[in-house]
Amino acid sequence: MCGIIGISSNKSVSVSIINSLKKLEYRGYDSAGIATLFDGEITEVKSEGRVNVLEENFDLKNLKGNIGIGHVRWATHGAPNSINAHPHSSDNVSVVHNGIIENSTILKKYLTSKGHIFKSQTDTEVIVHLITENLKTDELDLAITKTLKQLHGSFALGIIFKDSPNLIVGARRGSPLAVGYGPNENYLGSDSYALKAMTNKITYLDDGEFCIIRNDQVLFFNEDGKKINKKIMELSSDESSYEKGEFKHFMAKEIEEQPTTIKTGIKEYIDKTNLDINIYNFPWKVDEINSITLIGCGTAYHSCLMAKYWFENLTQLDVNIDIASEFRYRKNRFKKDSLYIFVSQSGETADTYAALDLCNRNKMKTCAVVNVIESSIARDSNFVLPIHCGPEIGVASTKAFLGQILILYILALKFGDLRKETNKENYKNKIKGLLNLPSLIEKSLLMDNDIQAISSTFNEAKGSMFLGRGFSYPIALEGALKLKELSYVHAEGYPAGEMKHGPLALIEDGMPVVVLAPRDSYYKKTISNMQEVIARGAKVLLITNKSKDEIISENIWETIEVENTNDDLLPFLLTIPLQKLAYYSALQKGYDIDKPRNLAKSVTVE
Ligand code: F6R
Repeated sequence: MCGIIGISSNKSVSVSIINSLKKLEYRGYDSAGIATLFDGEITEVKSEGRVNVLEENFDLKNLKGNIGIGHVRWATHGAPNSINAHPHSSDNVSVVHNGIIENSTILKKYLTSKGHIFKSQTDTEVIVHLITENLKTDELDLAITKTLKQLHGSFALGIIFKDSPNLIVGARRGSPLAVGYGPNENYLGSDSYALKAMTNKITYLDDGEFCIIRNDQVLFFNEDGKKINKKIMELSSDESSYEKGEFKHFMAKEIEEQPTTIKTGIKEYIDKTNLDINIYNFPWKVDEINSITLIGCGTAYHSCLMAKYWFENLTQLDVNIDIASEFRYRKNRFKKDSLYIFVSQSGETADTYAALDLCNRNKMKTCAVVNVIESSIARDSNFVLPIHCGPEIGVASTKAFLGQILILYILALKFGDLRKETNKENYKNKIKGLLNLPSLIEKSLLMDNDIQAISSTFNEAKGSMFLGRGFSYPIALEGALKLKELSYVHAEGYPAGEMKHGPLALIEDGMPVVVLAPRDSYYKKTISNMQEVIARGAKVLLITNKSKDEIISENIWETIEVENTNDDLLPFLLTIPLQKLAYYSALQKGYDIDKPRNLAKSVTVE
């Protein structure tokens, strides 16, 4: 949610800032801007729209300055136009911000009474004027310490100053921020991906900290303004993960990468020789745990729901799931024998982090299932299970979803075994089954033609429904989410058995309905529900698995058959055609698949 970049160098920085902003666009793309400092003057340029619009509107290559900051915005306060685009500047100070200032109205009143004039509708502009005001009486580091304490809410900030022409200040509370180190230059960025082309040496700021970056020095401070030391980490440099290669979109590439995601997960967690799971170092005894709560947002929440079915089948644990934005404000009953599992691709989602923080403050056992292992959620959890799927750049999550459900399935198996709630033979058989999963996914990926032909029906319809029961229900929700976020078609995921309690009223002649009915223990029930929607005129796309038995229903519009495997693993295979359906629907409409409207990856605001 908004991306920020800052560079302090011994040479001109505008081109590097623009290149980094292009990498950060997945975090926000409704406006973009940069500010550089040259010859004692700050020059600010900004535009509504994407970074390429900014490039078209201004001669950025000739924008002088060895110090600069840049921003791509996902609007929170104020419309996405050029006035509200960042940076925001006073005569002396220019700021880029990711986050939300919750007390901006009060601060604005105070600053207006002091004579400050506001140009935008943003909350960010109060930061500019507050620093400007504090600099009237205090030295820079004190003015920053004071300002940060006056701000309520979340922020990652990059700040430059006309009167301190050789430095950038970075500050973090709630929203992620990394510092990078290069030859004769140092950087500030919302994530390491933005800095990747320039450096692999990174330090992450922790909450409350700020830093002062010069081209030859970086200093770190705690929230009281005391100097602190921080470690530099070296990131691996697998550049190919950051390129689209032969693919038209990152999403297409990431869908095709899923066999590798599963192979890597198996390599990391499965002992193939002994058919065992390599997770040994839990910081707690698993038999001290009586309940688990899985928490996430969006697709990650669907992973939690998927995991509930597996944990309930393989263990005797009480299993709860929660949407992070709900959990964080409820009166939760924290019990000593509970484990809280946080699921997140980015590891930076504000609501999920806040839920984790709440559990940590209540001294709960916490575990993170994340992709970005340097993330806040990973760093602040007692135990981390990385999903190892490599960078996911497309805003719509695909390979991270399969990665998350793989790790959660493995964890459920491990708990079942350690607690002696899954019998040993069953445990080993299930692990054996997992070893075939990558090749089954590879086969399921070969169905493009059928799905391309089907997708136009979804685009032409007023709305669509995705139905499933049991293991297929979370996948139905995920399929509906993918379709709505990519092709902006109304799509609703529903438990098939719930239709007659209301949503059946939506079904009308020709409405496309996806029914997930693999031949598992729910098959017959789901087929009955399918008949109920067919009887009311629905055009049913049935997704099932291959079988020698005939399908026990008539009048189905289209059928897609995925490979056959055991019931536990069918959800992985059912997901693939749904991802492709969403992809091809959006492609047909000519939408921006990697950057759907109104969305951004890594939701670091509430
Ligand atoms: C949907 C999607 C989102 C994310 C959600 C949580 O395709 O990507 O729903 O799953 O914003 O993000 P993470 O997993 O980074 O916490």
